[in-house]
Amino acid sequence: MINTQVLLARRPQGKPVAEDFRVVENEVRPIREGEALMENQFISLDAGFRNWMDEGAGDDVLPAMALEEPVMGLVAGKVLESNRDDMRVGEVLVGRLFWETYSIAGPGDLLTPIQEKYKLSANLFLGVMGDTGLSAYFGLIRVGNLKPGETLLVSAAGGAVGNAAGQIGKALGAGRVVGFAGSDDKCRWLENEVGYDATINYKAGDVDAAIARACPDGVDVYFDNVGGDLLEPVLNHINYQARIPFCGAVADYTATEGSGPSNLFRLVADCGRLEGFMTHYWMDDYEAARDVLAGWLSDGSLKNYEARYQGVEKCGQAFEDLFEGGNFGKAIVEV
Ligand SMILES: NC(=O)c1ccc[n+]([C@@H]2O[C@H](COP(=O)([O-])OP(=O)(O)OC[C@H]3O[C@@H](n4cnc5c(N)ncnc54)[C@H](OP(=O)(O)O)[C@@H]3O)[C@@H](O)[C@H]2O)c1
Repeated sequence: MINTQVLLARRPQGKPVAEDFRVVENEVRPIREGEALMENQFISLDAGFRNWMDEGAGDDVLPAMALEEPVMGLVAGKVLESNRDDMRVGEVLVGRLFWETYSIAGPGDLLTPIQEKYKLSANLFLGVMGDTGLSAYFGLIRVGNLKPGETLLVSAAGGAVGNAAGQIGKALGAGRVVGFAGSDDKCRWLENEVGYDATINYKAGDVDAAIARACPDGVDVYFDNVGGDLLEPVLNHINYQARIPFCGAVADYTATEGSGPSNLFRLVADCGRLEGFMTHYWMDDYEAARDVLAGWLSDGSLKNYEARYQGVEKCGQAFEDLFEGGNFGKAIVEV
């Protein structure tokens, strides 16, 4: 059985490019005791994994990715053979594996079965029913404490977490939902298709003035996916006791020099709160959250938007596109 794998050929300098990765073919070896063979179906492209591509990154639990080894990523796949009690042949599972057509899940690899009760395809468990949707959901509710009628502003609004955050914000009753995106096309898509009330192309002109126009009542919750320099103009428009759920810092993952706001005092003056979070801290509550998300999917208030690529060999290009803003929705590769 031939395995097509995408290796980390060199460490990206700043933004990753397709040439940082290399496609190879290898024979799949037989599984050993405590292992299972997975046939991968979908691979999720996640900006956060860029953090493990640098020399010396990570920690003892999850060290930096090794050169000339398959790239680590979130994967949904079917169990083909199993020597593990917790993995049944035929079961579809989601977990951290590699950019490849077949993966061997070892004893330490934690994979979770997709919940068949929802009768949804596996790709959704990498999208709105997976980390993506759950990050938007918990970030808005547990950290953002979003209340009906409030103004919600979202960065990387056209990305995976961002488009879900806008839709979930609406479902939770936000009065106005505004998003940052990096092109006019993406802004139009967010307003016409996803349901954002207004958008700001952060690459075009005076961002501060654009926020003032798009958020005439100020910003109550800023769901931040990017960090970097965008936070500064946003802080100029936050309301009293505004909340900033800090989900990720995609601008900083590739920055070659430090960036960030010079006006953090606005948080003091407006009694605001900026709080980072890791979604997996709420793992015990995933099923309850998925019940809600599945309800919104079935009544149409939530959609799973995807930028889908065909073939595992497209992973490198898809990852490059992610940092160039090429994805409208969740970037995913159908293996
Ligand atoms: N805390 C958690 O547990 C958790 C879980 C999942 C994801 N995350 C984080 O959530 C964030 C979004 O992840 P995602 O998977 O949904 O990625 P994504 O939004 O689908 O893709 C990244 C998007 O960021 C935008 N972007 C890239 N560079 C930028 C810059 N310098 N300034 C502003 N925008 C920039 C691009 O869109 P434009 O066209 O708008 O430029 C791009 O499409 C990431 O920071 C990720 O690490 C956190």
